[in-house]
Amino acid sequence: MNFKKITKENIDFFFKILNKEYVITDNDSRVSFGHDETEDLSFPPEVVLLPQNTEQVSAIMTYCNNMSIPVTPIGAQTGLSGGALSIHGGVGLSLKKMNSIIKIDELNLQVITEPGVITQELQEAVIKKGLFYSPDPSSKGSCFIGGNVAENAGGPRAVKYGVTKDWILNLEVVLPNGEIIWTGANTLKNSTGYNLTQLMVGSEGTLGVITKIVLKLIPYPTKNVSMLAPFKDASKACEAVSAIFRAGITPSALEFMERDALDWILKFDDSVSLSIDDTTKAHLLIELDGNDLDQIYQECEKVNSVLEQFDCGEILFADTESQKENIWKMRRRIGEAVKSNSIYKEEDTVVPRYELPKLLAGVKQIGEKYGFESVCYGHAGDGNLHINIIKGDLSNKAWKEELPKGIREIFELTVSLGGTLSGEHGIGYVQKDYMDIAFNKTELALLKGIKDLFDPKGIMNPSKILP
Ligand code: LAC
Ligand code: ZN
Repeated sequence: MNFKKITKENIDFFFKILNKEYVITDNDSRVSFGHDETEDLSFPPEVVLLPQNTEQVSAIMTYCNNMSIPVTPIGAQTGLSGGALSIHGGVGLSLKKMNSIIKIDELNLQVITEPGVITQELQEAVIKKGLFYSPDPSSKGSCFIGGNVAENAGGPRAVKYGVTKDWILNLEVVLPNGEIIWTGANTLKNSTGYNLTQLMVGSEGTLGVITKIVLKLIPYPTKNVSMLAPFKDASKACEAVSAIFRAGITPSALEFMERDALDWILKFDDSVSLSIDDTTKAHLLIELDGNDLDQIYQECEKVNSVLEQFDCGEILFADTESQKENIWKMRRRIGEAVKSNSIYKEEDTVVPRYELPKLLAGVKQIGEKYGFESVCYGHAGDGNLHINIIKGDLSNKAWKEELPKGIREIFELTVSLGGTLSGEHGIGYVQKDYMDIAFNKTELALLKGIKDLFDPKGIMNPSKILP
């Protein structure tokens, strides 16, 4: 790729279209926009631009396309696959100043929002109207809704309510050449032509810049109960997962955590507590929700009797706000806890849920073969296992040269079980060299063809997704 370096003339142009303070060139700020939460990677843009509206985004894209300047959209920098890294320098396009909720439509149960709104703030704003936007990635307190759309983020509640894509009705997008489009209509159904909306969801900023988002909402489920179930055998915990659904229950969350994950979080965060028996090897965290507590407790009973068949220990019921806060905080901060302890790589494998025990066993076998330790946890109800591979005492050589072969084996196993590389974190920069495992040549050529159609000059978030 033959990209142009940013010149003084380029900067002068950006000063003409943006407020002066929204063109950032100083070194420290550029470096601060050069990372997300992916490993310890750092790729600062040459200039950071902070547009305040769609027209400014359009002007920037038109100019950069003409000038062959690469543009990387940047959200809240919470991504886990390097989607927001400015690999080739160029423009880092931060969407953080486009942070208004434009309209909560209580008649149609929809919300129109700009991309830079923090997901949890959006959720709280609609809850005030008795409405629910469910996707809840662990980073919900800091991530942006635009980034969630770009990565097709999930979270614990996806198992009942779906991932981000299931909530998107329509998107305003600035194409790489600066043209502004809407991808669909603000309707719950739409059989009108190819589905541009869903093509854009999960495209990781490689096809255009998402500047407005229309989401559907549903009535807010007012009650929930969480259950934390310990197991002596992690594979039994995984086996219990599909049995719960087969018993006719759809929990609003069904999470798996290996023993190590909880040990690490208990060391990392003093504000949470749990006493864990020495023999416990894993936990399932199960949430059931609805509007009728009696009905929820009946479902808890059913879950209880399923879990008993898998040698589960004494279940902790959390029905007060502080109990729930304690166990969910533990769950949500696992990633941070692992990161604080060691250099690590996070894989985001997903398989059909009944295959989960085979995936977990296979990951441990591959770990033994390559000499790495892994901490596994994730959205078991979705068959989505986060595998945190710990550097620990591994040599740099083993980490750089041997580990990628182990990761390849993990992905091959995942695909052989009917699964795929990423359930919710995206491919971004760090998984793209494994895409040949999930797609054959013909399929990869189709993906490449789509990219070329939208972005013939290849300026839009280059070196992401495609190998
Ligand atoms: C989680 C993030 C890492 O599930 O996806 O905590
Ligand atoms: Zn997750």
